Amino acid sequence: MIDQYGRNIDYMRISVTDRCNLRCLYCMPEEGIECLNPSDILSFEEIVTTAEAAALLGIKKIKITGGEPLVRKDIPNLIGKIKGIKGIEVVTMTTNGILLKNMAKDLKQAGLDGINISLDTIDPKRFKVLTRFDKLDEVLAGIREISSLGIKTKLNCVPINKIGEEELTKIAEFSGGNILVRFIELMPIGLGKEFQLIPYQTVKKILEDKYGASRLNPKKFGNGPAVYYDFPGLSGSIGFITAMSHEFCGTCNRIRLTAAGDIKLCLHHMEGISLKPYLENHISKDKLAELLKEVIYQKPAHHCFHEEKGQDVEWRNMVQIGG
Ligand code: GTP
Ligand code: 5AD
Ligand code: SF4
Repeated sequence: MIDQYGRNIDYMRISVTDRCNLRCLYCMPEEGIECLNPSDILSFEEIVTTAEAAALLGIKKIKITGGEPLVRKDIPNLIGKIKGIKGIEVVTMTTNGILLKNMAKDLKQAGLDGINISLDTIDPKRFKVLTRFDKLDEVLAGIREISSLGIKTKLNCVPINKIGEEELTKIAEFSGGNILVRFIELMPIGLGKEFQLIPYQTVKKILEDKYGASRLNPKKFGNGPAVYYDFPGLSGSIGFITAMSHEFCGTCNRIRLTAAGDIKLCLHHMEGISLKPYLENHISKDKLAELLKEVIYQKPAHHCFHEEKGQDVEWRNMVQIGG
C-alpha cells in the first residue's frame, strides 16, 4: 500500500521475541532487560493473522527478527506458515547465529529465503567483550552450515570502538559465493547512544586501500536499505547501511510488528498501534487489514536521529524492537 508520502510499503519486520542469548554492548545491558511475559507475546496464530491481513494490503516480504528469533520454540513452523500465505513472496530472518547450526536444515526445509547473521568481530576475545559470551565458534559454524545449504546469507557488521583495519578487511573477505557482507552505521537507539559509530566512508576507504577503488553495484540484493559496492580485490559485493550519514527514509518500504503486537511505523518513532486487543478479540482478517491501512498511511516522513529528543522518540533498546 502507499503511505501519505507516496512510499510503497511492501515489507514487514516481525519480531517474535524480545529475549536474546547474547548481550551486545550496544544493544543490551549485562543484566539483561525486563522481558515480556509469555502471555503478552503474540502467539503464532496471531502473528499469522497479522501477516495475512498485511498481505491483503500488499506486504510481500517478511523478515523474522527478535531479540534473537531462534530462542523462540518452533520458528521453522512459523516460517512455513508465513510462506504459505497468499501474496507473501519472500521470508527471511535476522539472527545472531548462536543456535543456527542445528536449526539450519529445518529452516531450509521450512522455505526460508535468506538469512542475515550478526558478525561484528571475528576475534574470539573481542567477540567475548562485545557480546559478553565466548561463542564466536558457534556463530561461525552456523554461518558455514546455512550458507552451505544454499540459503542466501548476509553478515551484518556494526563496527564500533575503533575496530582495527585488519579485522574489518578480514570480515569483508567473507563476501563471495552466496555470502554478502554489510557494514552498518551504529544508530543512537537505546545503548547505541553510548558508543561512537564508524561512518561508512571510513570503512569504505579502508577497504579501498586494500582492495582497490569501489564501484557502485546497482543490483538489489534484498529488501532493506543497504547500498552495495564491488571492489576489484574482493569476490563478493559489500553493502553499507548508512542510516546516519545518508538518511534513506524517503524510500522506506517497511513497518514493524513487535513481539508484543505493536505496529511500529518507523524504527525511531513510538508511533503506531497495539494490535493485541484486536487479535485477542478475534478480529477478522479484512477488518484488521482496514485498521492497518489507516495506521500505515500515517507513517512518519523520517527518523529524527539528528534532532533533540522529541515526545515520540523511541526509548527502547534494539532488542525490544527487532532492528
Ligand atoms: P535485507 O537486506 O532484505 O536482508 O534487509 P535488512 O538489511 O533490512 O535486514 P537486517 O535485519 O539485517 O537489518 C540490517 C540493519 O538495517 C539493522 O541495523 C537494522 O536496524 C537496519 N534497518 C533496517 N530497517 C531500517 C529502517 O527502516 N531504518 C533504519 N534507520 N535502519 C533500518
Ligand atoms: N545500530 C545499528 N544496528 C544495530 N543493530 C543492533 N543495534 C543496532 C544499532 N544501535 C543490528 C544488529 C543486527 C541488526 C538486526 O541490527 O547488529 O545485525
Ligand atoms: Fe546482540 Fe542482536 Fe542480541 Fe541485541 S538482539 S544483544 S544486537 S544479538
